Amino acid sequence: MSEYSPLPVPPMSIRFDPAAGTLSPEGPTLTRRMSDLEGLFRDRAAWEQAVADGDPVVYSVVSSQVPEVDRELPQSITTIQPGATGGELWMTKGHQHPNHQGEIYLGISGRGGLLMFDGAETRWVEMTPGTIGYMPPGWAHRSINIGSEPYSFLAVYPGGAGHDYGWVLEHGMGLRVLAATDDNTAANGNTGTDTGVEFVAYSGD
Ligand SMILES: [Fe+2]
Repeated sequence: MSEYSPLPVPPMSIRFDPAAGTLSPEGPTLTRRMSDLEGLFRDRAAWEQAVADGDPVVYSVVSSQVPEVDRELPQSITTIQPGATGGELWMTKGHQHPNHQGEIYLGISGRGGLLMFDGAETRWVEMTPGTIGYMPPGWAHRSINIGSEPYSFLAVYPGGAGHDYGWVLEHGMGLRVLAATDDNTAANGNTGTDTGVEFVAYSGD
């Protein structure tokens, strides 16, 4: 497994291969399977079935060699596979930065969404190739694949921001993002959206 660069990090260029989703030189890669997403999907039985049905890879995160330490500016490429579990579109775990600091995402391929939640308000940014989504300090964030192809984006974030995944388990994200279907439309009494997704209120059940 590739590692982060030792300090001090030298000036460098990093090549991204969009077809392969790889970085060169590359740092560590994180792979999240369905079993890693316990407690995040609304429909627990559907989640359990998906784990039993081969425990698919939901997303992967390829990091550059810039380490996550204060004052450095790490980058990573996240690729979320297309899919839905219990109608809920495949997504990242989502996290809050314990040290409230901003972050940007740049859409590279596919269609996605950036869901942000500050504990009271929820915001949604649709992400297509070339879109920069900005997360201000204090807004938890989660990415969702809303298309039929893999959705990839570049993240650039302060190395000292940290990742608090438990915050999302405790506070939710305000809204859930479902594939727009006749069933979902009927359940929510609306006609869906242009993006083919539906939003429903987050609940602990
Ligand atoms: Fe972040």
